[in-house]
Amino acid sequence: MAPSAANIVAIYPGSFDPITNGHLDLIARGSRLVDRLIVAILRNEAKQPLFSVEERAEMLKEVLRPYANVEVASFSGLTAAYAAERGANVILRGLRAVSDYEYELKMALMNRRLQPGIETAFLMAAETYSFVSSRLVKEVARQGGNISGLVPPIVELRLAERLFEVK
Ligand code: PNS
Repeated sequence: MAPSAANIVAIYPGSFDPITNGHLDLIARGSRLVDRLIVAILRNEAKQPLFSVEERAEMLKEVLRPYANVEVASFSGLTAAYAAERGANVILRGLRAVSDYEYELKMALMNRRLQPGIETAFLMAAETYSFVSSRLVKEVARQGGNISGLVPPIVELRLAERLFEVK
């Protein structure tokens, strides 16, 4: 008898300050693999984000509206604890380059130690976005460089508003 498929609830944790097209590509592909995907913004005041959690959630919700099985949430504390609290059985992360690997491996192993029942699953970033990060996008935008195509249009607008007070 064929095994029945598990109901897969995945959590995709991150800072999303702000969401990039790399994140968006990962969410689009990840959402097709799971029943429900929770995009979870970490509340971490120590990081001095450019956008508040509420602003980031608003942008994410706007951009992710077409994805019926994707939810936007925020959390404090440990990813593994939040994933367990939400009944998730998968933590989804993206890998861009080899340089991501060591950090992601350590996180995945620590998260497994904390919650052995939750698997971390990785998707390779699309090659088009493999160099894109929120940090680089902000750096380029701050210096007036062109970031179109690297972030959704609403994010481009919000960045211009935030960095140059353009309304
Ligand atoms: O978008 P980022 O900054 O790469 O996301 C990193 C994030 C939020 C996934 C990571 O820092 C995290 O999980 N933080 C929550 C605290 C935690 O669980 N720390 C232990 C991880 S092993």
